[in-house]
Amino acid sequence: MCPDRDTQTMPATPTSSSDWASYNAARAGTSAVRPLTDRALTTLRATHQNLASLRAVELGSGAGIETRRLLQEGMIVHTIDIDPSVEKHMNELTTLGILEHRTGLIEEWDPLPHADLILANASLPFVPRARFTSVWERVKHALLPDGILAVDLFGSDDTWASDLGTYLTRKEVDELLDTLEVIELNERNEEGHAFDGIKHWHTFTVIARHPT
Ligand SMILES: C[S@@+](CC[C@H](N)C(=O)[O-])C[C@H]1O[C@@H](n2cnc3c(N)ncnc32)[C@H](O)[C@@H]1O
Repeated sequence: MCPDRDTQTMPATPTSSSDWASYNAARAGTSAVRPLTDRALTTLRATHQNLASLRAVELGSGAGIETRRLLQEGMIVHTIDIDPSVEKHMNELTTLGILEHRTGLIEEWDPLPHADLILANASLPFVPRARFTSVWERVKHALLPDGILAVDLFGSDDTWASDLGTYLTRKEVDELLDTLEVIELNERNEEGHAFDGIKHWHTFTVIARHPT
């Protein structure tokens, strides 16, 4: 389900927490950190020699695979996910460092904590279109100077595109990023594998920095 590659089983066009529980249960059994997370940490190191005690916010944390990685860096981590089934995994991670997890909707977390890193692997596209602009403004407002935003966005050509989520044109993505320093913007617009067969993936993988 994630742009990086996914094969777990779940219904098409997921829209509710129950849709996500089986996906997150399968992910909980892995330790494979998303490439976007690794690249975001590498980018953060360009301006911060030591990541310990930096603040991170992860939106749509799932079972906490990325969260664990952030905690291992010594970061102070705030996470949110709509799926209550991940709470047990997040509770286990509190032994690794400072983690504050909440169960809820990204679009209802207001204000977001200020952060040096805001990470959203394959989660922001599931914010309903009508709520997305205010979420994006909140995300930008929460980024500290030199803070890194690392997110997957979905495009308007994606098989799942509907107003139940947020599916953007390239022009809209460029506009979202126009006050940020874009470090990486990779667009994928092609057929590919999903958990339930072939689908058209239209995704934008973004790493951007809040200018000082
Ligand atoms: C594709 S999964 C990605 C999970 C994790 N970031 C990863 O890379 O494995 C999307 C995650 O976002 C969560 N999610 C979807 N819509 C959400 C929303 N509106 N608010 C909070 N969490 C949401 C789901 O429960 C799920 O855990």
